[in-house]
Amino acid sequence: MPKKLPPNEQPLTTLRDDASTEAVGKGWNAFTQYCIHCHPAPGSGRGSVPDLARSTDGVFDMYNQIILEGAFAKKGMPNLKGKITEQQIKDIKSFIFYSSDVLGKGMPVNEYLTNIAKMQYEADMKAAEAAKKK
Ligand code: HEC
Repeated sequence: MPKKLPPNEQPLTTLRDDASTEAVGKGWNAFTQYCIHCHPAPGSGRGSVPDLARSTDGVFDMYNQIILEGAFAKKGMPNLKGKITEQQIKDIKSFIFYSSDVLGKGMPVNEYLTNIAKMQYEADMKAAEAAKKK
């Protein structure tokens, strides 16, 4: 039996995509740059600001409106238009789906963080190579 969640916690999202590990690494970079100072780490379920791994499916469909059009500005969610791209938002979703998948399957947090660090390294190396070619 899975552990019973406190009543204020939604279950982890079951949405998934087939993103590459590089995309997950980029998503982690964007999440730490733009979101983590307000939103808790995916899966942790704490804090007054939502754990993004526990949103309903409808919220995931609204990411561009929420992040680029200020749909939740009245609730305190800033409009990040001009700061973040649609591709970065897509990568953040891939990072969140990866996180809910492995954490939901019971991967220990230290192993999860090691995997994320590897994917981030891969993404950073590819970005550095691409920059050299220019
Ligand atoms: C300045 C703090 C702040 C930053 C930075 C921030 N958010 Fe938020 N976000 C909030 C608050 C506050 C809410 C609304 C909480 C509520 O519903 O009461 C919210 C709500 C959301 C929601 C709706 C979640 C749900 O299930 O209802 C999404 C999605 C979201 N933010 C995504 C992001 C992403 C992605 C980033 C980074 C690109 C980000 N936010 C950056 C404060 C922030």
